[in-house]
Amino acid sequence: MARKQITLNDPSRFKDPANLTWERYVALQARERERYLAERAAIPAEAMAYQTVSPRYLERAVDQFANNYYSELSATHYIATAAANAPFDELKKCCLFQLADEQRHLEMDREVFERAGIPERDWLPAWEAPGTTCRFFRHVLELEDTIEILVKANFVAEGAAGPGTFAVLADGAEARGDIFSAVNHRARVRDETRHISFARALVRALIDDDPSNLDVIQRWQDDSLQLFVEVARGGERREWWEGFLTSYYKIALPLGLRPSTLPV
Ligand SMILES: [Fe+2]
Ligand SMILES: [Fe+2]
Repeated sequence: MARKQITLNDPSRFKDPANLTWERYVALQARERERYLAERAAIPAEAMAYQTVSPRYLERAVDQFANNYYSELSATHYIATAAANAPFDELKKCCLFQLADEQRHLEMDREVFERAGIPERDWLPAWEAPGTTCRFFRHVLELEDTIEILVKANFVAEGAAGPGTFAVLADGAEARGDIFSAVNHRARVRDETRHISFARALVRALIDDDPSNLDVIQRWQDDSLQLFVEVARGGERREWWEGFLTSYYKIALPLGLRPSTLPV
């Protein structure tokens, strides 16, 4: 395994902010599942069959569907690695609960592709095309260190992508007749918020534990945002990108991080 760049010398500094136990988590997810299934059941059949959207919408939405599906698929893999290599139990617990969340998100997004009638052979090429978040997630999938994974994926990427960005995506989909995607985005954001808050608690603990950790976290932030820059190119996603950075800096700057220098 690669050399550890950060160690939390005093693991008692980290506490799960959601204060979940296995029992509480299972109860929470059962309620969420019930709520999601009720919202899904209320969607008209034509909308579930993607007959309420224009053919042009579907053509353009394949990229977005791929960004949703493959980032969730990546998340199930990297958070499993993070759980397996977790340096202490409280952190392992948070990773394992997240693994169950990401697995559900993945299934929701798979169903979107299927109901929209997009052949599976088109999914991966859409994800690997320029302008997607593929480069970032492929990088995270190569990592083995739990803390590096959580800082880059949960703190930086989810911190940036949630909850404002998901609201934009949900409203945009709904306005174009894609109710199912809207319901999925609104369901996922409730979990992502929890993933962000335990990552933020971890970052705070790391900085309190040893202020020099801030330099490593700054470098991880710079590297991560750099891998996202291509998504903003071409201007089309400009608004998304602005929201992405704004959400992230709202979380990061109060912890002492500085904005990254990015060539956009
Ligand atoms: Fe997710
Ligand atoms: Fe997540």
